[in-house]
Amino acid sequence: MHFGYYKFPMNPFRREPMLELMNRHVFESLKLDESDEVIFDLGCGLAAPCRSFAKNYPGRLVKGITIVEWQIEKAKVLNRLAGVEDRIEMILGDYTNLGFENNSADAAYALESACHCPGDDKAAFVQEMMRVLKPGKSFVIVDGFLKRPGSKFNRLLKYCYREICKGWALPSFPNVNGVTAMLEKCGAEIIEVTDLSFRVAPSVMHAPFTVVSFLLKKMLQGEKLNSVRLGHLKACFLGLILGMHRGSFSYIMISGVKKK
Ligand SMILES: C[S@@+](CC[C@H](N)C(=O)[O-])C[C@H]1O[C@@H](n2cnc3c(N)ncnc32)[C@H](O)[C@@H]1O
Repeated sequence: MHFGYYKFPMNPFRREPMLELMNRHVFESLKLDESDEVIFDLGCGLAAPCRSFAKNYPGRLVKGITIVEWQIEKAKVLNRLAGVEDRIEMILGDYTNLGFENNSADAAYALESACHCPGDDKAAFVQEMMRVLKPGKSFVIVDGFLKRPGSKFNRLLKYCYREICKGWALPSFPNVNGVTAMLEKCGAEIIEVTDLSFRVAPSVMHAPFTVVSFLLKKMLQGEKLNSVRLGHLKACFLGLILGMHRGSFSYIMISGVKKK
């Protein structure tokens, strides 16, 4: 799951269309041409973006890669239900160590998944994405990015940042300068670095309501929440505070191509 992309006159209270528009925005930013057949989704989760891609771009193959085993089985069921299982290959793997040959992808994207890689510049992820991407082909990375080092945050931001990373099991958020420098070092030409913070704001505002309704549902079912789940929910709230500090944090899309 990722945040949605808002565009007037959409209804900001409807989350699904905003999620779908974020998928489409990523795909369009890849600027695919007819020869681009094999697309990598690096960190695909339950593969909702893969299904959107398969529906909107028939005749291509999307390879969804996730490190979480149960997501593969669940995604396969969802892909089948959506009637697109023949256009999506689900792969259990680590995006920092893919079993593919050099230059095997016609395009690659990572939607809110690069943040799970260690390091502020996400070096292992960037190096591997650039290795498997064919020269001249495009990539898109969308994520929450730090705009200055976390060590320079005030006490409140440091607290929020620490708890968010803990709750969402992130080693750290990517730093925008670190990632763009690493991309260039690995042979990328950066096309655009776009701040999407205002585009995702309406869908971010859904988080508190979603969290509260989830908690109420679980309480009514008599279910106790473990510390992992509670940490995750707390991170959703603290994310609002971090997100409001525009000088420190932004939701950003980086697009580019691998130089020939
Ligand atoms: C927040 S989810 C985003 C899922 C999906 N991109 C979406 O937008 O719906 C992050 C995903 O990254 C995956 N991930 C994290 N580290 C990974 C790694 N080293 N290799 C492959 N996938 C990874 C997780 O399994 C998870 O599915």
